[in-house]
Amino acid sequence: MARVQNWVPVVEAATRAPSIHNTQPWRFTAAPDRLEVFLDTSRGLPTLDPTHRQQVISCGVAVEFALVALRSAGHEAEVEVGGAEVGGAGDDDHLATVRVTGPHEPTGADQALATAIVERHTRRAPFLPHAVPDELLGQLQEAAGPYGVWVQQVSETDAELVLAHLLDRAERAEQSDPAYRAELESWLRTDPDAPDGVPVTAVPADDPAARPTNWTVRDFLVGRRTRQPAAPVADDDPPPPVERPAVVLLGTAGDDRPAWVQAGRALGRVLLVLTAAGMAASPLTQALDWPATRTRMRVDLSLVGHPQMIMRIGWSSAQPTRTGRRPVAEVLRTVD
Ligand SMILES: Cc1cc2nc3c(=O)[nH]c(=O)nc-3n(C[C@H](O)[C@H](O)[C@H](O)COP(=O)(O)O)c2cc1C
Repeated sequence: MARVQNWVPVVEAATRAPSIHNTQPWRFTAAPDRLEVFLDTSRGLPTLDPTHRQQVISCGVAVEFALVALRSAGHEAEVEVGGAEVGGAGDDDHLATVRVTGPHEPTGADQALATAIVERHTRRAPFLPHAVPDELLGQLQEAAGPYGVWVQQVSETDAELVLAHLLDRAERAEQSDPAYRAELESWLRTDPDAPDGVPVTAVPADDPAARPTNWTVRDFLVGRRTRQPAAPVADDDPPPPVERPAVVLLGTAGDDRPAWVQAGRALGRVLLVLTAAGMAASPLTQALDWPATRTRMRVDLSLVGHPQMIMRIGWSSAQPTRTGRRPVAEVLRTVD
């Protein structure tokens, strides 16, 4: 039987996964030959994510990061999504089993992806005004395809306008909802070393609505920011640089828990590939939070299947902010 002596580094890598509001909604059980991944519903977002769709996607990323960490450490492994927990009592929140199948000779690509786990951070600041190469977008589609997940760039002007408008509307609707604001606030952290939640240092201090861009990022400081009067602009001042992110949608044919896990796994791969290529990303999921805007997006953009993620991708020179994670001991249980 293929065995892993020490699961801690693998779970440590898994927990570097991005998660909605940095809720880290996962727990793990490790046996020598496998790692079971569960959704931790006690860390839910009942207003924003009542079905746990975005949290299951987050756990899917953690599954993929565990797989990448295993391969770079010399273990071949495969993932079973859904199904019964191996040897367990059956748990509705069991999402996937990562089973170690034998030795693996790590390649340069395996090592590059493992390095990208540590380097990846959500970058919400405006990107540099440089275009994302078409070649990279092709690589992202290739990376997601094996999981049954499509990656579609929103590049036509009409589609951009539709999506930018939906995001803007969704952001405003959310900001006017006291329950949404209370939930967001409860996951915002003033301590930069907090083990979970979104640190204020990781979100733009400027008003996202005032950015020279079409793309409204989620405003984590809504209600806390005192609006500054706009600085006077002289006629001969150069216009501010306009960021040129690629905006991509990831989607699936189905819309159930296994599809969400697969969407998360593909998202994990996509994030690592673009990080290894020197780029950065930030999700813009406001328009997917509510069933009505999500359906509207499917119709208005003529999408085949179900959108699961919207992301800006671009080049960034800003210093990344590392967000906290709970210690591995808090999320890992080991059995023989
Ligand atoms: C499913 C999902 C949805 C997310 N939605 C947003 C979003 O709408 N806006 C945003 O700024 N960040 C979003 N994030 C990023 C998380 O806030 C981020 O992953 C978390 O704070 C941890 O930070 P890190 O990614 O830098 O490690 C999302 C992440 C996931 C996995």
